[in-house]
Amino acid sequence: MGEFHLPPEVSMVFVRGEGSKLYDADGREYVDFLNGSGPMILGHGHPAVVAAVTAQLQRGATFFGLNRPVIELGERIIDAAPCGEKIRFVGSGSDAVSFAVRMARAFTGRRRVLRFEGGWHGVSDFALHGARPPEPSDYPRASADVAGLPAALSDDLLVSPFNDAAMARALIERHAGELAAVCVEPLQRCIRPKPPFLETLRELTAEHGIILIFDEVVTGFRIAWGGAQERYGVVPDLAAYGKTISGGHPNAAICGRADVLETVNPWRERSDPQRTFVSGTFNGNPISAVAGLATLNVLDQPGTYERLHALADRIRAEVEAMGRELSIPLLVGGDGPVLQVLFTEADDIADYRTMLYADKDRAFRFGVGMIRRGFFVSPYEKIYLSTAHTGQDLDRALAAMREVMKELPA
Ligand SMILES: Cc1ncc(COP(=O)(O)O)c(C=O)c1O
Repeated sequence: MGEFHLPPEVSMVFVRGEGSKLYDADGREYVDFLNGSGPMILGHGHPAVVAAVTAQLQRGATFFGLNRPVIELGERIIDAAPCGEKIRFVGSGSDAVSFAVRMARAFTGRRRVLRFEGGWHGVSDFALHGARPPEPSDYPRASADVAGLPAALSDDLLVSPFNDAAMARALIERHAGELAAVCVEPLQRCIRPKPPFLETLRELTAEHGIILIFDEVVTGFRIAWGGAQERYGVVPDLAAYGKTISGGHPNAAICGRADVLETVNPWRERSDPQRTFVSGTFNGNPISAVAGLATLNVLDQPGTYERLHALADRIRAEVEAMGRELSIPLLVGGDGPVLQVLFTEADDIADYRTMLYADKDRAFRFGVGMIRRGFFVSPYEKIYLSTAHTGQDLDRALAAMREVMKELPA
């Protein structure tokens, strides 16, 4: 788990999850709006996932070798991903993004990476520069977010504000010869991309031979079957996947252009300057693969995304109406079944600054109030919906949100 500071009276130890619910050691039930931080898009213990995992357990837990389930899952992802030509499985979303960056460096022979302030790419040394700066960044200087990171890394990174196509253009044009990659969360946390931001990144990276990496760890198979690439109509060179493709078991992948993924082909000559290396004991794990496959098979059924979007649209509309009615300034960000309530006077969520300056005290009280009423959320963080959520779960959650908002101090 990451950081999860809850006051002692709402701290809990979970013992079971079933469908849209979690149960703690004291027998309390919670409607789960975190869903394992995203992987449990079908809810807990979906029968298709349980059956697939149980059957695979009898056949072997891990092989460190190619296996049928992982081949099948790879083919499924390549078919769905607009950028899909080849795929490499890894253990976590953090691995997927940092290995995609490594491949881009090896492929281009360049060292620098442009990333966007406030984007979350996991916990690698690279990713923890400019992910959560306590103050707006001194663009394009990237500073370490936490202690313990190599000092020299800052110089390999450039940071720019999300949705600022003009600044991204200026930085890419100025540093084109030294940029290996532009790495972006296409839906950055709960901030939607505004045209022509992603389009500009695509156009300029193509023009200058820079690898465009979409971090689709959250958006892949969630905001659409073809992820952000399909929803926003921009196709990167590489995409990082995780969460939804895992069925709740550790799994992630880098999918995209064959020539870039070829940098990790072990048959390349050792002297080849483009040859690089990625590995991991549990990469391509068959249990994770069958769980991921079972999940994708359910998500692929007609009407899934329409229903997930409809549930989310209802929350968005009703919570924003509640804010207006109770005179609480707020916005609901995100896209599809990933949402976040920001207590902010801003009229739009355009970049990290909107999130940085949002009222965190209110967000915390809101989150804790929801947990107290039996809804599991991470204060300050996104809400993840699952196919297991029912209209009744939403009725109850919206009623609880109204109660909690009424209790918020002015
Ligand atoms: C967009 C994004 N990228 C990467 C990661 C890192 O994934 P993991 O926690 O599996 O390392 C996360 C995790 O939340 C994420 O949201």
